[in-house]
Amino acid sequence: MKPLVVLLLAALASAGASARGDLSAEDLQRVRGITAPTRDFSAPEAFETMQAGAATVKKLINADIFSHASANLSFEGRQQFLVGNGLFRKDWVSAPSSTQASDGLGPLFNARSCQACHVKDGRGTVPGFDPLARTDAVALLLRLSVPPATEAERRALSSGELAALPEPVYGAQLQNFAVAGLPSEGRIAVEYTPITVRLAGGETAILMRPAYRIEDLGYGPMRADTQISPRLAPPMIGLGLLEAIHEDDILAHAAADKGDGISGKPNWVHDLRTGAKVLGRFNWKAGQPTVEQQSAAAFSNDMGLSSPLFPSHHGDCTAAQQACFDMPHGAQPHLGEHEVPARLMDFVSFYSNNLAVPQRRDPDDARVLAGKKLFYEANCIGCHVPKYVTRRDAKQPEHQFQLIWPYTDLLLHDMGEGLADGVSEGQANGREWRTPPLWGIGLTAVVNPNATYLHDGRARSLLEAILWHGGEAQAARDRVVAMTPAERADLIRFLESL
Ligand code: HEC
Ligand code: HEC
Repeated sequence: MKPLVVLLLAALASAGASARGDLSAEDLQRVRGITAPTRDFSAPEAFETMQAGAATVKKLINADIFSHASANLSFEGRQQFLVGNGLFRKDWVSAPSSTQASDGLGPLFNARSCQACHVKDGRGTVPGFDPLARTDAVALLLRLSVPPATEAERRALSSGELAALPEPVYGAQLQNFAVAGLPSEGRIAVEYTPITVRLAGGETAILMRPAYRIEDLGYGPMRADTQISPRLAPPMIGLGLLEAIHEDDILAHAAADKGDGISGKPNWVHDLRTGAKVLGRFNWKAGQPTVEQQSAAAFSNDMGLSSPLFPSHHGDCTAAQQACFDMPHGAQPHLGEHEVPARLMDFVSFYSNNLAVPQRRDPDDARVLAGKKLFYEANCIGCHVPKYVTRRDAKQPEHQFQLIWPYTDLLLHDMGEGLADGVSEGQANGREWRTPPLWGIGLTAVVNPNATYLHDGRARSLLEAILWHGGEAQAARDRVVAMTPAERADLIRFLESL
């Protein structure tokens, strides 16, 4: 190696730079230059409009804007995407049925299709803000767990063998639907208490604090110490590109001590395909490492369908729910041993990996640029990290070496008591959440007019979402409270342009 290169590498290492085995020293230097936060807010940055690189779509803005395939997919890729789309939208039915290739739903389930929760590939809808809303919530899940009581249980958690201990009767998730002849597990009741927040310049905002109850329990009492973690279905765009971000780039943000009270934490989780402990990236607590594994988990937990990674035909039925195990399942010997055979699972994973992020709107608008500057100055970028260049060796060629702008570090942060669910998942504790990507967030209401924000959908607007920030994000939130009304409007205008 030339001395100059060695010096350069040493300098980069001491700056906390990531190693990135997929790049030459020259490329690494180029990438670090491109991904450094900008200091110039007078005009958009190069390529900023194309926030998902060559995968970005430039399409008419309407309710289908999250449902397009990545712009750079090959012809074969598009065919696969279309088949996957069909499976994502299809309503599964209970076994046995005449349509043998799509039965096996349940016996316990939360919804009949992926699309029922990920509305038009965007986020789901919460029960609504009626003070006494009793509802058959679809897109809102309640994860259930209990604290460890024995040494063996503590070991299972600390070794990572289990991310959480399921409730002994009801399992890891409340399924509020069941096939005919079987009781459902119960229903979700949400009650909201309004909280008034005063902002500089005489404005006020009203935040809605949710409280969850489970009613009409179908299988007897739940353990008194059961912990409930509510989760709303997030949008599906750009996920394959998030998987293609190099782990070193993510961990560099975890390691960096920026002196700003922010310390991102990785969630190390089990990769069921390889058996390895790997970086969690997906879901609100980064509990899943890959799009494929989360998609298979959704078939199992949310719909009660088996696939190679989650082979039980009875989903989240527990030993205490014998009636659930006695129900027929939908695996067809001539189609393979799973209700969702590997071939179909691959189509769904491909689809989930290749939903396109739309291009930015008006990145050169003066108000948008002013809002962008405020976003940087308030240190929102301490967690919502603007840009990355994806791996050169990403699994799928279309995801390789793309400059992308997801506005996330994919790490866990303590978000304070207001957002805490008190429930751990792997290394994520009861106050921690993964920074969600912000790309596409400005089109949320175009795709689903009833959509709301944050892990449980409690925030009815982008401003409410920001005002709920606490813990490591308290300082950023306080800066927004102290802004003039015009500045706050600019900040929101920037988010709406994403
Ligand atoms: C009952 C509602 C529901 C159904 C049905 C559902 N999902 Fe989800 N989905 C969710 C929720 C809630 C989350 C977040 C879970 C968490 O944080 O643990 C999620 C997360 C995801 C994610 C991760 C997204 C991200 O940004 O981290 C993927 C991928 C996904 N679902 C795919 C699917 C697929 C594929 C199907 C159909 C097989 C499906 N989902 C069915 C509610 C649902
Ligand atoms: C310490 C890390 C951190 C900082 C700083 C931070 N955020 Fe967040 N942000 C998060 C996390 C984590 C969530 C998800 C919290 C939840 O769902 O409970 C989130 C959620 C959001 C959401 C809602 C996203 C969605 O999909 O529902 C918006 C909008 C948002 N942040 C904007 C901002 C803005 C604007 C700032 C700066 C004023 C900021 N954030 C500062 C970590 C941070």
